Amino acid sequence: MTDARITVHKEAGIDRIAPEVHGHFSEHLGRCIYEGIWNSDSTDEDGFREDVVSLLDDLELPVLRWPGGCFADDYHWEDGIGPREDRPRRRNLFWAQGPEEVPEESNAFGTDEFLQLCERIGTEPYLAANVGSGDPQEAANWVEYCNYDGDTELADRRRENGHEEPYGVKYWGLGNENWGCGGQMTPEQYAREYRRFATYVGTMDNLMLDHELELIACGFEGHEWNRRFMEEIGGSAWGSDFPLDHLTLHHYYGRTMSVEEADEDKYDRFLADALEMETHIEKIAAAINAVATTRDIGVIIDEWGAWHTEATADNGLEQPGNVLDALSAAAVLDIFNHHSDVVTMTNIAQTVNVLQCLVETDADDAWARPTYHVFDLYAPHKGNEAVQTSIDTPARELADDDRELPLVGASASTTDGETYVTVTNLDCREDHSVEISLEGTTPDADAIDANLLFADNEPDTTVTADNADEFAAADLEVSVDDDGTLSLELPPATVAGLSIQ
Ligand code: AHR
Repeated sequence: MTDARITVHKEAGIDRIAPEVHGHFSEHLGRCIYEGIWNSDSTDEDGFREDVVSLLDDLELPVLRWPGGCFADDYHWEDGIGPREDRPRRRNLFWAQGPEEVPEESNAFGTDEFLQLCERIGTEPYLAANVGSGDPQEAANWVEYCNYDGDTELADRRRENGHEEPYGVKYWGLGNENWGCGGQMTPEQYAREYRRFATYVGTMDNLMLDHELELIACGFEGHEWNRRFMEEIGGSAWGSDFPLDHLTLHHYYGRTMSVEEADEDKYDRFLADALEMETHIEKIAAAINAVATTRDIGVIIDEWGAWHTEATADNGLEQPGNVLDALSAAAVLDIFNHHSDVVTMTNIAQTVNVLQCLVETDADDAWARPTYHVFDLYAPHKGNEAVQTSIDTPARELADDDRELPLVGASASTTDGETYVTVTNLDCREDHSVEISLEGTTPDADAIDANLLFADNEPDTTVTADNADEFAAADLEVSVDDDGTLSLELPPATVAGLSIQ
């Protein structure tokens, strides 16, 4: 018996799915940069871990945010350029990091190393400037160092440090969580600081930069904060009315759940928490629309993902990587597709070894986590037109909670006569049989290419170097009846991707 029905309204376009929605985040925290991406004791001149770089390259990351996180508002970029032996060692106010797990920053990995990484893996850099403990001059100098092509001391320093041409960094965040670790500011205070920084970084007519910058302001999961920020930031007497291109927030979920001790009721609540991403997108978009428009100011979620009790500041926010987390990522990527008209970028936290990373390493190996495979399965959506889907799904009432978990989710997108549909079975206990109809199309069975993730894994299966191969996608059987309806069987806690010509 079919228990979920999905109708894809191919002609009801939502908007293009910005490829940047599949973006990532890397911070000077734990083993993300040092040991994860870059080897502090490497004899190789560049120091990058080839195994990690190769996995990231294969995934075609559209954008990578750096250097934080909370670290961004404690970071002074000039510490991290020039000859490595001259760079100062500083305390890292927020995080123990690197192989020695000390709250210290060697500055061995800095702006040029990060931008070189981005060039190697073909990703757009997104730099977060220090607003909390820095000043507008420092931020403006960073833009000049990276992007100016003329004859100034800072542009010449970039050349001396090995990069003749400007890097052309487009995305600039001004601060991080400035309601919290970025200075504990009220929304009005941050709005005034933000405007001052934006003036010097690039919202005024700026003769020296021929590269168009996109400025990103920090918002909050408490949406009253966003409303007050937007009211205060608007309406300058001189200059840009709204000196921002995007407003961000962070949504982590699973903070009270231990991966090792969870049971099925907890899985359900965790997935329901992940689905709250939708409400956050709607609320932050409403805060923007109350005074401006989401056509002019996009929504970015520049930190998101599972954060379990296993991840603590002491262990560099490391937690086991499992199928359940990957399932939540699939559900959240579907939400981003449904809101492609307002969501301009997102960055899952964090790329390597930290929180819901995609790649995990030890001294010898690097391997893909289940979440990596979800991003790979969802990659065909990037740049497509998202279209409306109607989903008729069974739901489960949550134990000790007044919410329901919809058990089957989906999203769809189109390009050049091809439709790509992703379907999740969020039910960690039962199979679900699913029917999919594409309005106005009778697909041929031969024109369907379908893949399934995690059919042979339990939701709590944790990835290690030894079993990492077991999480790759397998072929999925799909039947097509005379009227063109597709039928498929989804085992518990699985994710499917169907390309339909
Ligand atoms: O990603 C870890 C931390 O979470 C970041 O530094 C901060 O922005 C957030 O609170």
